Amino acid sequence: MDQHRPHNPNSSYRRHRSEDKRERGDGWRNPNENKHLKPNHHQHQSGATPEQKPLSCPSLSTRRELYERDFPLYKQPVEVGCFSLDAERRFFNDSRQMRYFVEPDRNPNFDLRDGYKGRYVKRDDSVREKLDHILRWIVANRSKLDSSATTASSRALDVDFVTWRGHLTKLLTTPYETREGWLLAVTRFSGTLYISEVETEAAQRERDNRTERHEEMMYWGYKFEQYTCADNPDSLPDPSGVVNTNEAFCTVVQTRLADHRLLFSGEVDCRDKDPDAPAPPACYVELKTSAEICTPKQRSNLHRFKLLKWWAQSFLPGVPRVVAGFRDHEGVVVSMETFHISKISHLIKNEYNCWKPTVCMNFCSDFMSFVKHMATEDNPSVVYLFSWEPRRDVTFSIHRDSQYSFLPHWYVKEMTSGGDSHHQS
Ligand code: A3P
Ligand code: MG
Repeated sequence: MDQHRPHNPNSSYRRHRSEDKRERGDGWRNPNENKHLKPNHHQHQSGATPEQKPLSCPSLSTRRELYERDFPLYKQPVEVGCFSLDAERRFFNDSRQMRYFVEPDRNPNFDLRDGYKGRYVKRDDSVREKLDHILRWIVANRSKLDSSATTASSRALDVDFVTWRGHLTKLLTTPYETREGWLLAVTRFSGTLYISEVETEAAQRERDNRTERHEEMMYWGYKFEQYTCADNPDSLPDPSGVVNTNEAFCTVVQTRLADHRLLFSGEVDCRDKDPDAPAPPACYVELKTSAEICTPKQRSNLHRFKLLKWWAQSFLPGVPRVVAGFRDHEGVVVSMETFHISKISHLIKNEYNCWKPTVCMNFCSDFMSFVKHMATEDNPSVVYLFSWEPRRDVTFSIHRDSQYSFLPHWYVKEMTSGGDSHHQS
């Protein structure tokens, strides 16, 4: 696999105009050359002893100006499969949870509070699923991903990174994030880098201390989905039913960002019900709710903050549109608006000091180069824990056989032993 080769900055972006000093890797800092390296403050979190000593760890800057260069190559994402999670969060290697978008009125008056007390089954968000569902999909679909035709090893996946779309969304928005840091565990196994999020202490505190209002508002987004989605192409939504957030339909896509081959999965809210709609992911629709917009300042804030998250989430898997329901303080949807992902960059151009898609994508690409370069030991029980807090650089620590190890034994066994006779050619 090519990530074992030494990093060569001139080999990347072959398809793009070379920008000399502005090539990838500008954000990297080597502590031996940089006296301003910040100590790695996550080292003490693990029960295991990290091998990396503070101050000996290279870091990656998240300063926006370092990533303002040409938009990197991002190949049109291709759906290679999908899976479903049922009402009890059980995995199925099929599209049984697919839902169909039913366009609401312009002023629908949906009551998002309805059913919160009696018709809501909330997923247990203290359960750490890590990458398990994606790994299950990979095991069930080995033949689709088999790299034996292109590489020497018949066991390796033909991708550099496997992760959740949501983790990539966090990476894309990092240069603009001012409140929430992240922890991403990375394991190199058979040449592929697996990225799985670890909840930060701050995020756990926030989850444990949500107000009742916040809990209810989290329900509103799912209730909006119920008002706008039908279970079949020719049926209507059923708002009298139960909202169960265990249920999910997830797409699995393959794409390439610069020289990084990616395989990731993300939940999809629904699809266009027209049988002549384009093939996935182009037929998918992302649903959102947001506070009603009454002033130019509120419109500007939507563009500057929310559209960044909405754009990043849908651009990654190639979902072309976001349908938003705007709600009042009582949780009633008073208006609707469709945002086409391809038009968002134009929409935000007139905002002062606004986010830029190219910064998001270049940062993500450079982070992946940084990971490839640093996470060198190919071992399923070794975790390189990358950590970031706003206004700091990305740093990492190394942990072996620790609480951070996330590749399950069944997956490692399946991918290394001869136990998968039905998958072998
Ligand atoms: P909204 O998107 O309307 O806010 P998604 O939009 O990603 O498909 O997520 C569906 C809903 O899950 C969200 O609806 C929101 O209600 C809830 N949700 C998702 N992520 C959340 C988060 N980090 N905090 C609170 N609620 C969240
Ligand atoms: Mg949504």
